[in-house]
Amino acid sequence: MANDKVSIHGAWASRWVFILAATGSAVGLGNIWKFPYMTGVYGGGAFVVMYLICIALVGVPIMLAETLIGRRGRQSPVNAMKSLAIEAGASRHWSLAALMGMVAALLILSFYSVVAGWSLEYILGMGSGRFEGISGEGAGAAFGGLTGDPWRLTLWHTLFMFLTALVIARGVVAGLERSLRIMMPLLFVLLLVLLGYSLTTGYFRQGFDFLFHFDPSKVQGGILAAMGHAFFTLSVGVGSIMVYGAYMPKNASIGGTVMAVGLLDTLVALTAGLALFPIVFAAGLEPGAGPGLMFVTLPIAFGNIAFGQVMGLVFFILVAVAAWSSSISMLEPAVAYFVERSGRSRAQVTAVLALLCWVVGMGTVLSFNVGAEAKFFVFGEEGFRLFQWGAEGGKTFFDSIDYLTSRILLPLGGLAFALFAGWVLSREALREELAAKSPLLFNLALWLIRVVAPIGVLVVFVAELSK
Ligand code: PHE
Repeated sequence: MANDKVSIHGAWASRWVFILAATGSAVGLGNIWKFPYMTGVYGGGAFVVMYLICIALVGVPIMLAETLIGRRGRQSPVNAMKSLAIEAGASRHWSLAALMGMVAALLILSFYSVVAGWSLEYILGMGSGRFEGISGEGAGAAFGGLTGDPWRLTLWHTLFMFLTALVIARGVVAGLERSLRIMMPLLFVLLLVLLGYSLTTGYFRQGFDFLFHFDPSKVQGGILAAMGHAFFTLSVGVGSIMVYGAYMPKNASIGGTVMAVGLLDTLVALTAGLALFPIVFAAGLEPGAGPGLMFVTLPIAFGNIAFGQVMGLVFFILVAVAAWSSSISMLEPAVAYFVERSGRSRAQVTAVLALLCWVVGMGTVLSFNVGAEAKFFVFGEEGFRLFQWGAEGGKTFFDSIDYLTSRILLPLGGLAFALFAGWVLSREALREELAAKSPLLFNLALWLIRVVAPIGVLVVFVAELSK
């Protein structure tokens, strides 16, 4: 018997809306900002190949696990895992994994909102023609001026957090589904416009070669980075995909749907790379610029090529929309949980949680300027210190939260979700949820969830920590 439970929060109209929502969550700053610059830093094609392997062997299986846990549980991740564990006769403490994921998602949201806020400022800058003919120093100074100004950062951070809360407060159907139906097609159109434009720069070939030229000597350095990025970009390990799974119609096939999301996410990352690198080359710039690629290099590129200002405007709107459809998925697991737990209205719960994330995000805002000297996790001459003002090494507040989430909490969460789905849920439950067409496909999925993905995560996790 298929399970007939429904979520109290609502349900997507169809499997198609789940694809929209999960793709909206997956496609974000990770694809458009992080992926191109990481490819630049780690030397192009070798990184891309590693990333694709990690997506297929670890990312997609964990996404499968999350989706099926969510749909079977039909509650917020924490309560879904708790009730499924009890049903299966396992320890209810499995739900701690979802609790940890929920906290990780809120932490990611706290800094994601700050970075997404930058794109709002750049929409304004491109729209007003401020970057017309700008030099390298000019663009560097513009970015430095923004990150050095706590007030301006606070303004954009506040606005972005407000936009995120607005969608979530309206609920699964009236808020999420309705806005995703507009955001996602817009995102794809903007991306195609940008790609079309980069085809006219005369440097498409060069960009293509950079992205796909495989140099085996460069594989070593990028493996761990590629794996970490696979988690982040697919939004797995925090419960975002799980909570969206809880709103998925009961008769939709999970396997094909999740494959579609993984493919779309990868396609967007590759298209973003294909669209951006020719523009970078056309402006005579280096692709290996690091995190500044999007906010420093691209404005120079856009400021010095034909129709660059309009395309720049298109680009930063794209970034903002992509970030928006991701940020809502970071807030939803916690909102669903506290609505279930407290019985208070969605609007009230959203307001409180968004405010909390906003406050934590202020730590990130300040870490770029007046608080840049506040260092955490310092390994100095006097040994380890959790906090030291003005220390040489150590991480700023922003770096610490980023490190804690992507390097530690995401892999741990993903590992727990895969183990729970693979070993705690019954084979019948899995068979029902996956509804695979052939026994071969079912066994393949099972094997990926049970063995391949957990081992992949463990290898990376241990290697990262012992670095
Ligand atoms: N996948 C999103 C991106 O690539 C980030 C994200 C992480 C979203 C975790 C939700 C949860 O930008």
